Amino acid sequence: MNLTKEEEKMLNGEVGDGVRSAMELLVAIGDAFDAEKMIPISRAHAASSGQEGDLYFVELLANGGAECRVPTSTNPVYDIEFFHKLFKIPKDEANVAQRVMKAYEKVGAILSWSCVPYLTDNIPLYGETVAFSESSATPYVNSVIGAKTNREAAQSALAAGVVGRTPEYGLHLKENRKGTLLVKVEARLKDSFDYTLLGQFVGHAIGYGIPVLTGIRKRPNTEELINFCAMSNTSGAVSMFYIPGLTVEAKTIAEAFQGDIPSEEVTVTDSELKNTLKELQTTSGRIDFVMLGCPHYTLNQIAEVARLLTGKKIHKGVSFWICSSSTTKTLAQRMGYVETIERAGGAVVVDTCIDEPCWTVYKNQVGMTDSPKCAYYRRFKDVAVGGLEECVQAAIEGKN
Ligand code: F3S
Repeated sequence: MNLTKEEEKMLNGEVGDGVRSAMELLVAIGDAFDAEKMIPISRAHAASSGQEGDLYFVELLANGGAECRVPTSTNPVYDIEFFHKLFKIPKDEANVAQRVMKAYEKVGAILSWSCVPYLTDNIPLYGETVAFSESSATPYVNSVIGAKTNREAAQSALAAGVVGRTPEYGLHLKENRKGTLLVKVEARLKDSFDYTLLGQFVGHAIGYGIPVLTGIRKRPNTEELINFCAMSNTSGAVSMFYIPGLTVEAKTIAEAFQGDIPSEEVTVTDSELKNTLKELQTTSGRIDFVMLGCPHYTLNQIAEVARLLTGKKIHKGVSFWICSSSTTKTLAQRMGYVETIERAGGAVVVDTCIDEPCWTVYKNQVGMTDSPKCAYYRRFKDVAVGGLEECVQAAIEGKN
C-alpha cells in the first residue's frame, strides 16, 4: 500500500504501540484486498462484546496508549452489577466484561453499548466514509443512509477509529457498490416481522452479495429496514442492498446495477416467507421467557409493547425482556412506557444483548423471540419465533 508519511510513522510505532497495532491490522487488511491507499473516515462503530475474543484487541490498543481519533461507538456488553444481582454471573465472566468496558473507555470510545448507534449516538450522513461493524449497522449505513462502509469486524472498526483511516477497497469503491442479483418480491409485506422474514430468506438465498429488490411499493419504515438489514446480514453477508426509488443511491434498477444486466434472480412469494418462519421454529407450546430487542428496540417498538401490555399481566413463570439502548430507555421512561411494561411484569434492559454471557441462566429453557438473529445465537434450549404481537401474547398466555 502507498502510505503517507504520517501513516508510515503510525506503522513504525512513532505515535505509540497501540496506534502501531491498529495500523498493522489495517495495512494487513489493505494488502489482502489489494487496496492502494488509506482513506480518512469520519466515524466508526466497533461491534464490541464482553467476551474473550474482543478483550484481547481492545486491551492491546488501550494499553498501548491508543485513543480514538474519530467518534467510535460501542456495541452491547452488559451491566455487570445489574445482572449479577439477578443471575449470579461467574467471577471470571464478569471480569472479562469489566475489562472490555474499561478498555473501550480508555481509548475514548462513545460508550453507547448499543447495536443501533446509527439511530441516536453516532449517525453518519449521506456520502460519509465510515467504518461500521455490526449486522444491521453495515447495510443500514450503506443503503438507507448512503454513507460508505465495508463489512467491518469489531477489531478493524476499532483500529479504523483509532487511526481515523481505513484501507480503500470493497464498498468504498463505486464499482463494487453495484447490485449483484435481482430479488423480485411478490410476497405481501404487511409489517416489520415480514421484513424480518424477507431479510432472513434473502440472506440465506444469496449468501454474499448486493441484492436489488423490486416489487416493494410502500416505503419501508425505520424498524422494517433495521430488521431487513440485521437478518439479511446474519443469515447471509449482505452489506448493502437497493430498493430502487425508495432507498438512496439508485432511483432505477439500471442505476442499481450500474448499467449491467443481472445474471441471477430470485423470487420471494408468501410461501417462501411462510417456509422461512417454519424452519426457524425448534419448539411450540410452553415458554419460559420472551426476548425482544435484537437489534435493540426503538422507541416505537417499546411503545407498541406498552400498548399491548396495558392492563395485562405476563404469565407467572415467564420472564419478559426487551433489550434497548440507554438513550431510548430514558425516553421510554419519560413517556411512561417502561412503567407500563414493568407493571405487567416485563423489563426493559439496556447495554446488553442475547449474545452476552449474562443470559446463560436460560441455557436449558425455552424462549420466544421476534428475531431470527436472537434465535440463531441460541443461548437457550429451544426457541419459537413470531412477530412482536405474537410474542407479547405468548408471554401473557405462557405458551405460543
Ligand atoms: Fe444487537 Fe446483540 Fe441482537 S448486538 S442485533 S442485540 S445479537
